[in-house]
Amino acid sequence: MPGMKDDIKEILISEEELKKTVQRIGNEISRDYEGKTPILVSILKGSVVFMADLMRAITIPCEIDFMAVSSYGSGVKTSGVVKIIKDLDRDIQGRDLIIVEDILDSGMTLSYILELLSARGPKSIKIATLFDKPSRRQVDVFAQYSGAEVPDEFIVGYGLDYNETYRNLPFIGVLKPSVYNN
Ligand code: IMP
Ligand code: MG
Repeated sequence: MPGMKDDIKEILISEEELKKTVQRIGNEISRDYEGKTPILVSILKGSVVFMADLMRAITIPCEIDFMAVSSYGSGVKTSGVVKIIKDLDRDIQGRDLIIVEDILDSGMTLSYILELLSARGPKSIKIATLFDKPSRRQVDVFAQYSGAEVPDEFIVGYGLDYNETYRNLPFIGVLKPSVYNN
């Protein structure tokens, strides 16, 4: 029976590599936030797998919260429109925030979220992104913690989707073009 893996052209990043990358970011955050209790803000849904692994790679106390915005609709191209679907539960005034994102592409989603959360008076805000596609940037956003730069190809797995599917692949793969064209 054909499955998800038949839609994958190549594995770009293996499970083993992902594990090392997340561990490295966890170490950096644990070192930088020693003596503080940051709030990890996961941007749903793409960052859930990264979030779940990252929080366990962090050795200092932290809190977690979730926010959902829509930026892409169901396809592969950005619409430029960002809408809040689920807001944070917690008050963030005076707190150290780390925004946890799956991938920094045009930067539109994160620049919007940064502006929105900055207005609520946190003590600090930093960004932890698992992947970065710098060649695609349209607005100036910088991630203090970044897992890996990826080429301008549409990737899926480890939380990242195409049409809400493939999020549960344990590795990062590149989709076959035939998947888009039917
Ligand atoms: P940005 O606003 O253009 O930076 O878009 C960021 C969001 O687009 C990410 O949180 C992802 O949900 C989605 N995205 C961008 N590139 C990819 C990709 O290659 N695969 C899956 N989702 C992507
Ligand atoms: Mg997405």
